[in-house]
Amino acid sequence: MTQKKDEILYERAKKVLPGGASRNQVLRQPHPVYAASASGSYLIDVNGKQYIDFSANIGSLIHGHAHPKIIEAAYEQMKKGTAYMVATEIEVEYAEYMINRIKSFEKIRFLNSGTEAVMHLTKVARAFTGRPKIAKCEGAYHGTYDVIEVSQKPNPNTWGDKKRPNSVPHTAGVPKGVLDSVIIVPFNDIENTINILEANKDDLACIIIDPMPHRINMLPASQEYVNTIYDWTRKNGSLFCFDEVITFRVHYSGMQECYKVQPDLTALGKIIGGGFPIGAFGGRDDIMEVLDPICQYYKYPLSGTFSANPISLTAGLTAMKLFEQDAVNNLNALSDKARSLISEAIKIAQVPISMSGEGSIIRLHFADRVPMDYRENYYNELNQKEAIKRFLDYLYDHGIICVNSLTFFLNTTMTDKEINILADTLLDAFKEVKPYIK
Ligand SMILES: Cc1ncc(COP(=O)(O)O)c(C=O)c1O
Repeated sequence: MTQKKDEILYERAKKVLPGGASRNQVLRQPHPVYAASASGSYLIDVNGKQYIDFSANIGSLIHGHAHPKIIEAAYEQMKKGTAYMVATEIEVEYAEYMINRIKSFEKIRFLNSGTEAVMHLTKVARAFTGRPKIAKCEGAYHGTYDVIEVSQKPNPNTWGDKKRPNSVPHTAGVPKGVLDSVIIVPFNDIENTINILEANKDDLACIIIDPMPHRINMLPASQEYVNTIYDWTRKNGSLFCFDEVITFRVHYSGMQECYKVQPDLTALGKIIGGGFPIGAFGGRDDIMEVLDPICQYYKYPLSGTFSANPISLTAGLTAMKLFEQDAVNNLNALSDKARSLISEAIKIAQVPISMSGEGSIIRLHFADRVPMDYRENYYNELNQKEAIKRFLDYLYDHGIICVNSLTFFLNTTMTDKEINILADTLLDAFKEVKPYIK
């Protein structure tokens, strides 16, 4: 039997790339999908099979693949140069645009990834406050910086008491000093979070919250949780920070638009690059001053070879201008329609499956209620491992790509057609895996 192109590629890949890929998300058994091309919501693999892509490269493609206006803008810029060691007009223009768009932004710094955005945000918080520790939620994903990875995926052997979770290293060899510098709090649990913050109040530079953390449960942080932590930070001199690398797509100015209080600093990434690598963080002018070399409060030298490169910024600004309030509303309305079709499918198939997310993000859970915290989600995923694997395989086999956490990102090129295909395929998939759900 002749081997298919993706089988051959995987065999070659395993010889030269650890695990056979550069990012673990693409790994699937018996082999990854190898993209040949993509346009809008559709992706074609190297064997010619077509998929509807609900992964949007983990939420980053708000206008789908290869949007003509974004590609044209980026191409025009490419012809004029891809990176310079001098400043550009687009950097100023995009910064002005974002500061108009996001109420909490007085200044912004452009970087190359969400990881960089969160890393520099937390380091700026330390520089500004002169304090060494940061607090984050158990199970929250904020990228791959060793500090922020702490307790990204703890397990029952390591996580400790729920009221005072351990700081668990994510990779081997993390220095103890790193673990000591990260305080872990339980998401949406006001009492225990405040108790933990109190115990560290003199050392805490900031608390960083993803307002709808996808790895925990994809439920929004409650108003009360956000307000209480914000008030606590005002009294205790630490900064209140958001990671909106994923959630910025949910509303015109991100999830922060839903809360009464504003973050001091916010990390962004993904959609603001229009499909090209990007990260950024922004917020209060007096804090951002630590980055300003001619300011008396300068404390944080920060450079980056590709930071603010004109390709990502041109593509990003074009994408953002195509995602103004009307486009956000239309996409969210389509996503609500998808939600009701999926609810219907769950009812018809009579499966214990629940749904979370907001706006253009939908996450499924193999449980009759959405898990309340990281630990409940951990046990759900462990117990339903077999059903989840079969479910994902079914979707890929039937031409639907989603994120392995069972998260579906919609994009502005989608219409009723793609939503109906999704709902129909999910219904069939629910029926198929029902016998495997425990
Ligand atoms: C909430 C959140 N923060 C940060 C990151 C890191 O972004 P990047 O992969 O661009 O480094 C991610 C990536 O998925 C994310 O979801």
